[in-house]
Amino acid sequence: MEEKDYSKYFNGPSLNQAKKRGKMDVHFIKDAFNIPYEIATLGKNKKYYIQTYGCQANERDTETLAGILEIMQYTATSVFEEADIIIFNTCAIRENAELKFFGKLGSAKKMKRTNPELIVGVCGCMAQEEAVVSKILASYPYVDLVFGTHNIHRLPMLLKDAIFSKEMVIEVWSKEGDVIENIPSTRANKYKAWVNIMYGCDKFCTYCIVPYTRGKERSRLKEDIINEVQELIEDGYQEVTLLGQNVNSYGKDLKNGESFASLLEAVAKTSIPRIRFMTSHPWDFSDTMIDIIAKYENIMPFIHLPVQSGNNEILKLMGRRYTIQEYKKLFDTIKVKLPNCAISTDIIVGFPNEDSDQFLETIDIVEYCQYDNAYTFIYSPRIGTPAAKMEDNVPLEEKQLRLYKLNQKVNMYALQKNQAYIGNVVKVLVEGASKRNHNILTGYTESQKLVNFEGDFSAIGTIVKVKITEAGTWALKGEMIYE
Ligand code: SAH
Ligand code: SF4
Ligand code: F3S
Repeated sequence: MEEKDYSKYFNGPSLNQAKKRGKMDVHFIKDAFNIPYEIATLGKNKKYYIQTYGCQANERDTETLAGILEIMQYTATSVFEEADIIIFNTCAIRENAELKFFGKLGSAKKMKRTNPELIVGVCGCMAQEEAVVSKILASYPYVDLVFGTHNIHRLPMLLKDAIFSKEMVIEVWSKEGDVIENIPSTRANKYKAWVNIMYGCDKFCTYCIVPYTRGKERSRLKEDIINEVQELIEDGYQEVTLLGQNVNSYGKDLKNGESFASLLEAVAKTSIPRIRFMTSHPWDFSDTMIDIIAKYENIMPFIHLPVQSGNNEILKLMGRRYTIQEYKKLFDTIKVKLPNCAISTDIIVGFPNEDSDQFLETIDIVEYCQYDNAYTFIYSPRIGTPAAKMEDNVPLEEKQLRLYKLNQKVNMYALQKNQAYIGNVVKVLVEGASKRNHNILTGYTESQKLVNFEGDFSAIGTIVKVKITEAGTWALKGEMIYE
C-alpha cells in the first residue's frame, strides 16, 4: 500500500475543525494497520496497564489498544505500579470524568521518577480537546504520548516515536476520515462482545461533546459486521452488543439502502444467542425496528431510550428533536409491541434555564415510564458546545437537590420493577463468580437485570434458568434450576 501522507494531521486537536463535517467520502481501509519490524517485539518482558473511562465506545477502543500492545508482546497487568506502559483512555462527557483522569494522571508522575523508562500515553475523547492537550503540555510534561480517537491504529508508530524522541509526541486528527478494519483486539469478556457498527455522531445535542470528539457518523459495512459476528460465534460467544452513539442512524451514510432495521435482522439471522444494541435516539426509532425486535427471539427485550428531560422547552434547547408527547407515543408503542421489554434512560438535571416546574415535568415522565433503570446526571458545560454559551444559571445546590429527588424516584421504580421478578424463572447468561462472593455466580437476564445466584460453576459461559427469590434496587438474587 502507498504510504499515506499524514503530515496535514500533525497538529494538536481543534474542536472548531472537528465541527466542520467534510463532504469527502469515507473509505473502508483494510490494510492501514502495520507494525514496523524494528519495534515488533518492543513489549517483550514488559507490561501494559490501560485505564479506561467513559462509555462502551471507549471500552471497545481499549480492547483494540490491548490487541495492538499484545501483538508487540506486551502482557497485561492489573497493577498500575507494575506497568512499563500506561495508557489513559479518557472520557470528556462531563467535568467530573475529566477531573478523575487528571487525578490519576498525577499519580503516574511518581512512577516515572522510579522508572524513567515508563511510557505514559493519553488517548480517547479528552485528547480531542485543545484545552486538555494544552493543559497536558503545560502541567504534565512527563506524558510521552497523546493521540486521539481517530488514529488508534497508529499506536505502534506513535509508540516508536515516543520511545525514540525526547519531546512529547502529539498526534490528534481533528477530522475523522475513514473506517479502518482489521485492527487486532483482545476482548475483555469471553462470552459477550462489543461490536462497533458505526462511529461518530451527527446529532449535535447542544450540551454534548461527542460529535466533536468522535467525528461524523460513519457506518461500517454490513458484511464486515456480520463477519465479525460469525467469528465471535465460532469463538463461542453468546452475546453481541451492537455499538454506536446512535444506532438508529446506521447505514444512512452508506447510501446503499441499509438501515439499522435491516442490519439488526441480518444479525438476528445468524446463530448468535443474544443481541443487544446501544444507544438508540428516540428521534428516529422506526416502527420497523420495533417489529424486528419483536420478531426475533435472539434480540433481547431491553432498550436504552434516553429522554434527557420531561419538558418540551428544555428538550428544544437541548436540540433533542422530539417533544415529550412524541417520546411517550414511542414508549407506548414499544410497550404494546414488546410487553416484556425493559426500558432504561438517561436524564440531565439543571440544564441552563431549567426552572423547578420544568424539572417537575422530568419527574412526571419518570412516573409515566417507570423506567427499569436510569442514568442521571447534573448538567456539565462542555467548552465548544452551543449550550456552553448559555448561562449556566441553575445554582449547584439546586442541581444537587433535583438530582437527589430524581434519584429517589428512579430507584423506587427500579426496585419495583425488580420485585416483580420474584418467583419468576429467567434465562441468565452466566458470566462467572460474583466479585463480592466467590461462591456465588453472576450474570444478566434477557432484560439486562443483574442476577446473583447459587449454582454450578460448570455453567459459566452458558445460558441457564434461574428462579428469582429476592430483589434489590440494583440486582436480583436467585437459584439455578437444573432440568
Ligand atoms: N449517544 C448516547 C449518549 C452518550 S453520552 C445517546 O445519545 O443516548 C451519555 C449520556 O451522558 C447522555 O445521554 C446524557 O444524558 C449525558 N450527558 C451528555 N453530555 C452531558 C453534559 N454536558 N452534562 C451532563 N450530562 C451529559
Ligand atoms: Fe451526544 Fe446527542 Fe450524539 Fe448522544 S445523540 S452522543 S447525546 S450528541
Ligand atoms: Fe465519554 Fe467519549 Fe464515550 S466523551 S461517553 S468516552 S464517546
